[in-house]
Amino acid sequence: MTKRPFIVGNWKMYIGTVDEAKKFASGMRRKSAVYKGADVWLAPPFTLLAALSGAFKSSAVKVGAQSVSQFVDEKRTGEVSAEMAKSAGAIFAIVGHSERRALGETNAVVRAQLEDALAAGLAVVLCIGETERDLAGAYLSVITDQLSSALDKLPLIKPGRLAVAYEPVWAIGKAAADAMKASDLREMSIFIKKTLTEHMERAAALKVPILYGGAVEAQNARALLKEGDVSGLLVGHASASLDSFAEILKAVSKK
Ligand code: PGA
Repeated sequence: MTKRPFIVGNWKMYIGTVDEAKKFASGMRRKSAVYKGADVWLAPPFTLLAALSGAFKSSAVKVGAQSVSQFVDEKRTGEVSAEMAKSAGAIFAIVGHSERRALGETNAVVRAQLEDALAAGLAVVLCIGETERDLAGAYLSVITDQLSSALDKLPLIKPGRLAVAYEPVWAIGKAAADAMKASDLREMSIFIKKTLTEHMERAAALKVPILYGGAVEAQNARALLKEGDVSGLLVGHASASLDSFAEILKAVSKK
């Protein structure tokens, strides 16, 4: 039996108002047949966490944060801790997204965020990905470094608490034609699984879902998922419109 596809929507700042978020949620609830075949998580901006988790209450859709603070002490103007996100309704947090790394979040910051999120009881979607590909394969060491600094010597993570989202930065925000080729993704998926086994107990490592993100749209979602040999997808721009998100869910859930 193949596992249910795991689809995470990262709204970034595409959806910004409570009204839009509620409309999206009620539209999705009406289309519940569409997402029955997939596990769906959505990451709205912090300001919409409470409204969106309320709007999806007692549905299968889970809501989480796009990032969390690396800090847990109180004197941090403007920061939102994992505990705070949790109390607003988050059950997971994305950490290490390339748009956060581009603002200066280093591997050490990502590690601190991951530990805080796990300690708060959130599941973590750890984003990794190279900014460019070189023929000599140096990009592989970017992936190895991001994974090892995030996971090395971490206490055993409970099943279901960690997913790794591979997002090549050069594909993010582009249209489907510029996404990664499924055959290249398959190789990367094998590489990530192997690297995970070097930093976690093998049985636990093999259970960590690998997601792909970067220019996922309805046209390429199914091929990336099936031929790319990943458990799911992290969808940015195409998750922010109900129609395009529903098309993706339909495409990946087809038998
Ligand atoms: P995209 O974004 O689907 O718009 O490329 C993916 C992401 O940044 O998570």
